[in-house]
Amino acid sequence: MNWTTENLKDQSGKLFVITGANTGLGYEMALELAKKSAYVVMTGRNENKLQEAKAEILKRVPGATLELGLMDLSDISSIKNFAKVFKSKHEKLDVLINNAGIMFPPPGRTKDGFELEFGVNYIGHYVLTALLFPLLKKTAKSRIVSMSSIAHLNGRVDFENLKLEKPFDKFREYGQSKVADLIFSLELQRRIEKRKLDIISVAAHPGISKTELLRTDSPEKINEFPHMSAKQGAFSALYAATEPIEGGSYIGPDGEGEMTGYPAPAFISEYAQDPELGTQLWGYTEQETGVLFDF
Ligand SMILES: NC(=O)c1ccc[n+]([C@@H]2O[C@H](COP(=O)([O-])OP(=O)(O)OC[C@H]3O[C@@H](n4cnc5c(N)ncnc54)[C@H](OP(=O)(O)O)[C@@H]3O)[C@@H](O)[C@H]2O)c1
Repeated sequence: MNWTTENLKDQSGKLFVITGANTGLGYEMALELAKKSAYVVMTGRNENKLQEAKAEILKRVPGATLELGLMDLSDISSIKNFAKVFKSKHEKLDVLINNAGIMFPPPGRTKDGFELEFGVNYIGHYVLTALLFPLLKKTAKSRIVSMSSIAHLNGRVDFENLKLEKPFDKFREYGQSKVADLIFSLELQRRIEKRKLDIISVAAHPGISKTELLRTDSPEKINEFPHMSAKQGAFSALYAATEPIEGGSYIGPDGEGEMTGYPAPAFISEYAQDPELGTQLWGYTEQETGVLFDF
């Protein structure tokens, strides 16, 4: 069966937080979940863009239950602020979708000194997940979805270059951030399993999908590859967020090279599955952010 949003089940009573929900894949996820009566918290770093995205969804899904959350993932204090406000309003969290991301920005560092892609795509989501973990723990059958990429296949974590110590290499740095997302997702699942918590950590990737991801590089590059619409690109994460799958699963499109297609188990590099690397990255992140999970 080709799973599409036609198969997305009713999500009444479920609370979702989606990062980067104002455009691209995150927007499509928010829209599709809203159609299925979910309560969706759309987060982003730009208030106007969030308001516009919310208005667009309300036009298409009158009565949708949407809340906005302002948070810049390149700034840990901003994530802490969002989490504080969120926890003051909500008692539970069913699904956290760590979707936001950047690719090939000009070389730079986050407010806290991490290389920009590593800092936004991975560090920001580690911190957010840790801060919202108490609510995920309180909610039956909750889950965390992390967005990785085909680019994880060549990704390596260079502990000597997580703060842009070496000359910027756009492919290497993006791959590093996306393999870190997958290593994190798998390591989180191991830690959850050890404590027998009623949570799963899973991951997804959208193959190659037409979004704004390449806006700071060459957006037209995507036309050199087989690719899908943002709507179809969102299927894998929506599947990972809602279908009955095992913790540690990785979902991506089933076509050639996983570039296009419909949700199916995706290939995870041996490297990303290494538990020692998982422990090492976790330890580094705890030490560098000072943010710990309360299991
Ligand atoms: N599109 C693909 O082919 C593809 C392939 C593999 C993986 N992915 C992954 O899919 C995810 C979604 O990307 P997309 O393709 O939908 O790209 P997109 O259209 O550029 O959307 C990215 C979203 O992330 C937000 N964002 C960026 N930096 C942020 C920050 N510092 N704080 C908070 N939010 C921030 C953006 O907000 P603004 O609009 O305000 O910048 C936007 O909402 C990413 O993790 C990406 O790595 C995409």
